Amino acid sequence: MPNKIILKKKITNFYKRIEIPGDKSISIRWVLISSLASGVSTAKNLLISDDVLASIRAIKKLGVKVIVKKNTCKIYGVGVNGYKYKKNLVIDAQNSGTVGRLIIGILIDTPFPIKIIGDKSLSKRDFKRIAKPLSKFGVSFKLNKNRNLPLVLNGSQKLKAIRYYENKGSAQCKSSVIFGGIKTAGKTIIKAKKSRNHTELMFKYLKLPINIKRNKNFDLIEIQKVNKIKPINYNIPSDISSGAFFIALTVLSEKSQLIIKNVNVNPTRTGIITILRKMGVSIFFLKKKIYKGEPVADILVKSPKKLKSVNFPSKFNSEAIDEFLIIFLIAAKAKGVSNFKNLDELNKKESPRLKWGAKILRLMGIKVFTTKNSIKIFGNPKIKVNKKIIIKEYLKDHRVFMTCVVAALTFGGEWHIHDKDAIKTSFPSFLKIIDMIKK
Ligand code: S3P
Repeated sequence: MPNKIILKKKITNFYKRIEIPGDKSISIRWVLISSLASGVSTAKNLLISDDVLASIRAIKKLGVKVIVKKNTCKIYGVGVNGYKYKKNLVIDAQNSGTVGRLIIGILIDTPFPIKIIGDKSLSKRDFKRIAKPLSKFGVSFKLNKNRNLPLVLNGSQKLKAIRYYENKGSAQCKSSVIFGGIKTAGKTIIKAKKSRNHTELMFKYLKLPINIKRNKNFDLIEIQKVNKIKPINYNIPSDISSGAFFIALTVLSEKSQLIIKNVNVNPTRTGIITILRKMGVSIFFLKKKIYKGEPVADILVKSPKKLKSVNFPSKFNSEAIDEFLIIFLIAAKAKGVSNFKNLDELNKKESPRLKWGAKILRLMGIKVFTTKNSIKIFGNPKIKVNKKIIIKEYLKDHRVFMTCVVAALTFGGEWHIHDKDAIKTSFPSFLKIIDMIKK
């Protein structure tokens, strides 16, 4: 099968109800926490994608038995101190920053050095951001070029509790230190800029010794050593970051309507909804409920008659961090100039996404100004693409691929989009659901 797709036709209006796969952040956290539980945990609707499979392969290497049948998964947890550490262990986080950064926090008490590797994209990303705080527990790291993978972790059995100020709004950094905290005697205290809080909610649900005080912009998290974790059965809700591509497809199509079932709508993840509402889109949460501390709802979205431009408040950056490419695409069709700022983190994802977002819009004929951490988009409600657009670089970035597919189906033109395989990391069934909506 060729690793590219050619799209030449716009999607016609649709009226659909879809189901999308499980949330990636919750799936990975469930895998890691279940591996440390005492007993068997089962998940339904686990996301079966390369990122989650990387977390499963990692815990298998540490002696944990896992059975996966379709999207149901059973993990035979070995207890908080039950991993079987071998000499010369190599853990491959593949494309996933979440797997790499979170598991290193869990592994800080390893008796032997562990090497962590990743694919081409992950090997360019910053691991100093977790090596630095984790070192304070009393472990040491050898990082490639002082900040990248491959890295070697030298663990310690004499860990000491730390204080850490997480100021990037990175849930991966925060969670990595929380995991370090459960292995360490004493109280680890984290002051963390707001970011997705699935780790904390799962810990709370499991009644682990975590204490959270919420302030306006920061959370104060206290975590203590954990001796035992109960198994956790979990029905994983769907991923709003995957749903975002279909929300955008609806917003950019005419006279269309979509319901996405059973989506995680944790407020630390719904920045895209807040912003689309500001831009004049009708989006509703139906059948809202709380499941294991996480808000879940069906999302109803209707294509708007007009789209307003937006001055995106930076305080929502973390809540929308994975959705900016698709939000830029929507801003391209809005009336007026949209502004986004303080986006330093965006160029540190699977690919430099601020750069790519601007490039895609420019290829479509949209006027864009960028600085190293901001973008100004001059929207055009009448935008039509009539030319051939080729996206050829192999970035290993699933969200660049999916954004281009949505652009091709809503703005027109002839698009040759390479690197189709990138969707395997987060959303292998993406194109099947697109086909289902086309029918
Ligand atoms: C994630 C956190 C975010 C996000 C990533 C998943 C997580 O990364 O972009 O896709 O599951 O914790 P950062 O922590 O680097 O912001």
